[in-house]
Amino acid sequence: MASTRRQFLNRILAGGITAITVYVIYPILRFFDPPSVTPDEQSRIFVATAEEMNLNSAKFFRLLDRAAVLVRLPNGNYRSLSAKCTDLGCTVSFRPVGDYFHCNCHGSEFSISGRVLRGPAERPLEEYDVSVEGDKIYVSAPAKTV
Ligand code: FES
Repeated sequence: MASTRRQFLNRILAGGITAITVYVIYPILRFFDPPSVTPDEQSRIFVATAEEMNLNSAKFFRLLDRAAVLVRLPNGNYRSLSAKCTDLGCTVSFRPVGDYFHCNCHGSEFSISGRVLRGPAERPLEEYDVSVEGDKIYVSAPAKTV
């Protein structure tokens, strides 16, 4: 009888340890192995209407679960870039006076085309494709696993 109770308690303990292990390990594994997306798959989303976007303004949004920004340039054209700083990943902010992006974390600055103006970031912001259909502005980017 005692051995049966001991076996029962051991099974409960083993089940509990297994559940806790899965509960802790699964998110870690998902972090290191995000869902795969085929490299040539495109993500295209509606971002704004032309009326929403004044000249020299920016709208931040999420594309493929990444921070992105759509900018309407002073000449009326649009440009879209990743808003994730290439230094350590903070979200950049748009500075309409001077037309550049600034990262508050460590002070990196990027031109309106995404080129690094000031470090510590060393890589440019990734640029996305913008398409205008009538009054609607769409942005698309190649899907990548982050
Ligand atoms: S994260 Fe942007 S400058 Fe460091």
